[in-house]
Amino acid sequence: MQEAIIFINPNIKYKETYISGILELQKEGRNLEDNVIELQNNFEKYLEDVEKDSKGIELKEGRVPQTVYWMIVDDVFVGRVSIRHYLNENLLKEGGHIGYDVIPSKRKNGYGTKLLEYGLEKSKEMKLEKVLITCDEENIGSRKIIEKCGGVLENIIKNENAPAKCRFWINLV
Ligand SMILES: CC(C)(COP(=O)(O)OP(=O)(O)OC[C@H]1O[C@@H](n2cnc3c(N)ncnc32)[C@H](O)[C@@H]1OP(=O)(O)O)[C@@H](O)C(=O)NCCC(=O)NCCS
Repeated sequence: MQEAIIFINPNIKYKETYISGILELQKEGRNLEDNVIELQNNFEKYLEDVEKDSKGIELKEGRVPQTVYWMIVDDVFVGRVSIRHYLNENLLKEGGHIGYDVIPSKRKNGYGTKLLEYGLEKSKEMKLEKVLITCDEENIGSRKIIEKCGGVLENIIKNENAPAKCRFWINLV
């Protein structure tokens, strides 16, 4: 049977499966800033914060507005894509416009590619003309995804104490 894939704004309907996904990511050392106990206890507040982020309300220092979409496959949270509405100095150097991740147990099924494709579609709707996407030099999966989606490598930034970052641009016009 064909799987049912949807992209949605973060939604309380998927609270439990989202939290399970975050726990998986945390096991590999990612998303440690997400406090799972707070998510369990007050998911509404988390959703409010996500919406404020998207509207640029009460942004933390150094942050720009960003919109997040979740990918749900057969009712299970599988990954997410975040679109930053514009770049600041930091994002221009390292972070880029679009970030995405797929939970470890669902990788290598094409979902990462679908997430970036969706992020690009949404970026176009937001009238972005070109987007910067970055990934670690050694992140073969992410590089393949970006290249498949038309990414053109501008440069690779070497860092003293962190992995080198590839900076790719994708034209949307
Ligand atoms: C990078 C990431 C999003 C890939 O997600 P995914 O769902 O596995 O991606 P896909 O299934 O669409 O794979 C795309 C391609 O990369 C390949 N690939 C994926 N992971 C790979 C890996 N670890 N090593 C080598 N190739 C890999 C796939 O085989 C596929 O190749 P193909 O196009 O030749 O078929 C996922 O590993 C992840 O979330 N990693 C942690 C966060 C991260 O790095 N995000 C990207 C930030 S820039």
